[in-house]
Amino acid sequence: MIFSRRTMFWTAAAPALVGKTASYTQQEIEKKIVQRDFRGLTKQDLPTPVLVLDQEVFESNVRRMAVHCKSAGIALRAHVKVHRSADIGKRQVAAGAIGLCCATISEAEWMSANGIRGLLWTTQPVGPNKTSRAVALAKRDPSFLCAVDDASVVDNLDEAARAAGTRASVVVDLDVGIGRQGVLSAQEALELAQRITKLRNLRLAGLMGYSGAASHAIGWETRKKISEEAVGKLLEAAGLCRKSGIEIKIVTGGSTGSYNIDSGIEGMTELQAGSYALMDARYRTVGGKTNSAVFDDFGCAPTVLTRVISKKHPNKAAIDAGNKALTRETDVVKDWPGLEPRPAGAEYGSLVWKNADREPKLGDLAELIMTNLDMSVNMFDRMFVCRNDRVADVYSVLGRRGPAQR
Ligand SMILES: Cc1ncc(COP(=O)(O)O)c(C=O)c1O
Repeated sequence: MIFSRRTMFWTAAAPALVGKTASYTQQEIEKKIVQRDFRGLTKQDLPTPVLVLDQEVFESNVRRMAVHCKSAGIALRAHVKVHRSADIGKRQVAAGAIGLCCATISEAEWMSANGIRGLLWTTQPVGPNKTSRAVALAKRDPSFLCAVDDASVVDNLDEAARAAGTRASVVVDLDVGIGRQGVLSAQEALELAQRITKLRNLRLAGLMGYSGAASHAIGWETRKKISEEAVGKLLEAAGLCRKSGIEIKIVTGGSTGSYNIDSGIEGMTELQAGSYALMDARYRTVGGKTNSAVFDDFGCAPTVLTRVISKKHPNKAAIDAGNKALTRETDVVKDWPGLEPRPAGAEYGSLVWKNADREPKLGDLAELIMTNLDMSVNMFDRMFVCRNDRVADVYSVLGRRGPAQR
């Protein structure tokens, strides 16, 4: 058989390539990435294990959420913690997001350095390093916001902003059911908001409340109940603040799992959904509004592309995606019913099966849909964006090494 590297688009079902030499050397692939010339490059050429992103599924996810938020009349400030990629963040903003939420100050710094505005750091700055960086970012970009839940943090931040000759904008974070951060009651939110309004170097932008319990609860009706309670608490706090004369412009929270619940609640101004852009296998199990078995409003766009590197045992094949490439043993093999991925060490995984549509052969490619996006994407420096088996683009995952990790 003659393989033409220009014309042949491989799939996982393509003939196994055991001993063929690569169409492109690693050096040529790196050069193509620098030159942004992906012509002729296919999944078969990539060094496995590697993170690939289904471009059509990704673009459709981004579009769908943007259209939903627009028609529901709620702003989207999409959370980047799942992808940590400015390439993706820019596309979310281009599709209509007013900005991005970030889990760490470094995420906010990278997104800002990539020209993205309207960033909300959803954790409060504690300690000198993060306080200074939050203030520095606020000085560079007055649209930057961070969450706060404590009077001492607020006072420190005010002092740091004064010393830096700037004003920092904050949202008061209310614990609406996650139990990890946030003031505990609407009354406490009011008290912290009042304190902030008295400080000269801080500006209160609004309130935040994220409920992880609502995001991942199984069953849309159950999520609706939990989410309505969570948002109710947030709106109670907003009401108290407004009653005492404090302006609350932003009321932000919500997630992918509650996107079509929170967006319908009067008073929520912003949605912080993040996972929707990529989606993982576990999120799909929570069930959707229209399909109670599978939450299929958004498709799983990323996979770990891996290759069968040994096939010596019945009903079992060794792959080159091990614990350094995957995070959970509950990852799923894409479009290959009957196969189950299992961990088999740092650099090895295995595929096992009882009855598979087709048995994996030595050299076969398989794609694994990860259980948990945040952890799995964080294993890779880049994503190869593919249209079918063709590489169409490469997106960077930021902060994978060096001082900017935290
Ligand atoms: C504070 C905050 N907001 C929003 C989100 C986005 O949630 P999801 O990825 O479920 O859309 C997260 C995710 O962990 C979060 O921590």
